[in-house]
Amino acid sequence: MSDLVARVRDVLPSVRADLEALVRIESVWADPARRPEVQRSAEAVSKLLSQAGFDDVRIVAEGGAPAVIARHPAPPGAPTVLLYAHHDVQPEGDRSQWVSSPFEPTERDGRLYGRGTADDKAGIATHLAAFRAHDGAPPVGVTVFVEGEEESGSPSLSRLLSAHRDLLAADVIVIADSDNWSTDIPSLTVSLRGLADCVVEVATLDHGLHSGMWGGVVPDALTVLVRLLASLHNDDGTVAVAGLHEATASDVDYTPERVRADTGLLDGVSEIGSGSVAQRLWAKPAITVIGIDATPIAQSSNTLIPKARAKVSMRVAPGGDAAEHLAALTRHLERHVPWGARVTVTPGDVGQPYAIDATGPVYDAARQAFAEAWGHAAVDTGVGGSIPFIAEFAAAFPEAKILVTGVEDPDTQAHSINESLHLGVLERAATAEALLLRSLGG
Ligand code: BES
Ligand code: MN
Ligand code: MN
Repeated sequence: MSDLVARVRDVLPSVRADLEALVRIESVWADPARRPEVQRSAEAVSKLLSQAGFDDVRIVAEGGAPAVIARHPAPPGAPTVLLYAHHDVQPEGDRSQWVSSPFEPTERDGRLYGRGTADDKAGIATHLAAFRAHDGAPPVGVTVFVEGEEESGSPSLSRLLSAHRDLLAADVIVIADSDNWSTDIPSLTVSLRGLADCVVEVATLDHGLHSGMWGGVVPDALTVLVRLLASLHNDDGTVAVAGLHEATASDVDYTPERVRADTGLLDGVSEIGSGSVAQRLWAKPAITVIGIDATPIAQSSNTLIPKARAKVSMRVAPGGDAAEHLAALTRHLERHVPWGARVTVTPGDVGQPYAIDATGPVYDAARQAFAEAWGHAAVDTGVGGSIPFIAEFAAAFPEAKILVTGVEDPDTQAHSINESLHLGVLERAATAEALLLRSLGG
């Protein structure tokens, strides 16, 4: 075993304890009541980085969530590597469905359960482990950048980038916020979908009406909304919106059995869409209704609902433009509303997709590090999820090589109940990153 591999193993218990402390902080930026927690989280991250030996650590904000930037200067002639993660987390959802409390990290069967144990506080833990394994003196410059509003679409990231451009400039950018093929096989993520969302509101009346007196003659807004939302897909579940981009996914073996196992699709429920699984997940657009505001059942009465709205979220295939896709979605919604109902589409967030040409010496070094740390070559994979800031970073630093790694695995359940981190994956990911820093140092 090489020294460095052993060093990662040595530092892992302390890194795990630090990860647990971070998970106890409810850093949900999307919840206004918990924004002070996000501040506390930034302070905790900043303290950990200082203790790890970074000599310049600061908390920065540009009108949004606090981010942490820590720097270890490059030895003369050596490149600088930017290590990215995010310290904000998704809301925990229905607490009663968590087996153990979402913000109390708990180990079961080699996995650490809790909100953010994987997405993406494990990314922070990976960077800490790699840096500590080098005893705070890796042979490259290291800048750690830990953002606090990734789960909200990174709205102030471009301002952070321009305000701290000099601090963030790097030759290689490692984004530890993606998935792995399995707990034994690493992924090198080579493409991510983009994102565009909107809120569509329909109105049919200026006030509610007795549904017996007027039902059958005037339409209610919820029925209109449901018909409109149904128009977004064809009967086979393919997306019915015109003018969307489609890319080509790499040819990997992703079986229907695996889809069922990885998602918990209920017996008898079929898949939707057409083409290979990888093609549908990584290279085609997808549309999902992620929320509806209408009368809750508990408050329902025999009334024709005058107004209803839904949030529609679309994934954009690599190569497509998120803003153009949002325009196409908006056009579709405006044109398909039945019975002349009023429709208002309020644009939401857009984030660009990204595809990486993973060839050349930096990617060779990464593949070598993965193979050594995991005992298995990395699989080039796309992911269906989005990290909109990658495109912004790539635009800000066009010369930088971007590596998208991660500490998730197919059982992580990011964003859902009972999120967890596989502790073996954390060790392998940290080892790969430590080896990569050494190899980039020449
Ligand atoms: N870590 C994910 C991105 C991701 C998802 C990578 C799946 C690999 C597989 C990230 O934290 C995330 O959830 N991104 C959001 C972006 C959005 C809020 C702008 C997403 O994909 O929904
Ligand atoms: Mn993430
Ligand atoms: Mn996420």
